[in-house]
Amino acid sequence: MILVAGGTGRLGRTLVPMLVDAGHRVRVMARGDSQPFPGTAADGVELLRGDLASEEDCRKAVAGCTAAVFAASGFGIKDSDPRTVDRDGAVRLVHAAADAGVEHVVMMSMHGAAAEGPIEFLRCKAAAEGAVRSSGMAWTIIRIGVLLEQRLEIMTAPLESKGKVMVFGSGRAPVTYTSVRDAAALIVRVVSDPALRNRVIEWGSVTASANEVAEAVLARAAHGSVQRIPAAAERVLSVVARPFSPFLARIAGAGIWEESGGTAFQWAPGRAEFPDIPVTGLQEVLTT
Ligand SMILES: NC(=O)c1ccc[n+]([C@@H]2O[C@H](COP(=O)([O-])OP(=O)(O)OC[C@H]3O[C@@H](n4cnc5c(N)ncnc54)[C@H](OP(=O)(O)O)[C@@H]3O)[C@@H](O)[C@H]2O)c1
Repeated sequence: MILVAGGTGRLGRTLVPMLVDAGHRVRVMARGDSQPFPGTAADGVELLRGDLASEEDCRKAVAGCTAAVFAASGFGIKDSDPRTVDRDGAVRLVHAAADAGVEHVVMMSMHGAAAEGPIEFLRCKAAAEGAVRSSGMAWTIIRIGVLLEQRLEIMTAPLESKGKVMVFGSGRAPVTYTSVRDAAALIVRVVSDPALRNRVIEWGSVTASANEVAEAVLARAAHGSVQRIPAAAERVLSVVARPFSPFLARIAGAGIWEESGGTAFQWAPGRAEFPDIPVTGLQEVLTT
């Protein structure tokens, strides 16, 4: 049995059926708060409504599992945050997994994760990485870029209603995106290949500026124009929004980091080791 914590999220929803197709039994853990929780379980899937903030729920989640994938996040949830989920929730789950005799943990992380990272999300991911490395279990850390499908959702949210595609900052900085499909395909490989244990894998799908992404979206939509949120506005929001909307403040803070070019990385060397996992490009995601 493989636990997918955050199995109802953007990545989790794609990953779970792929794991089942690969012959695994899967337990999905989520609260059913930010994402709909399935009413009935598909074949090969067990559903567990649980909160990573609860030690008891973490213990139930890992019971009887040989592997656990941490695919939960508080970054994009208005009434949550990375400290609660990506750091403390991850550490709690890792400890519960080690106590329960789970053999292998896959920790979803991000390029740039570091204790002194420029945004809190990266510092929280570094803490989660530290927890798996010192857990005594086998581990694999997968550092992805910005999830491409999520970014497209955000950029195109006002396209139908207002004919606008949102671009944050100058839109000129290179950003490395990882498609959900590519991230899920790597996880499926990692859980079944012992040679991929105790390794950090950096995993991207495409590097493009926000202006290039917007251009591709507009070309496909054949209508609309760019609405730009200036970098100066992001800088102000990242500070002044903190007391009333930490969510908005962290989105703006991430935008500033992106503007620095820090999200971009060389992903081709990491992919070269897995030539049979197809690279899902921007056009492919836009057309499906
Ligand atoms: N999105 C990105 O650009 C990006 C970049 C780098 C790394 N990552 C990492 O990749 C993984 C997948 O991200 P994603 O974008 O697919 O996430 P997502 O769509 O935001 O989904 C988050 C999932 O976590 C669950 N969750 C949140 N709080 C929870 C809690 N306290 N207890 C149990 N479950 C909880 C959510 O369900 P409920 O709220 O209903 O519980 C949902 O299933 C995450 O680990 C994320 O940090 C993402």
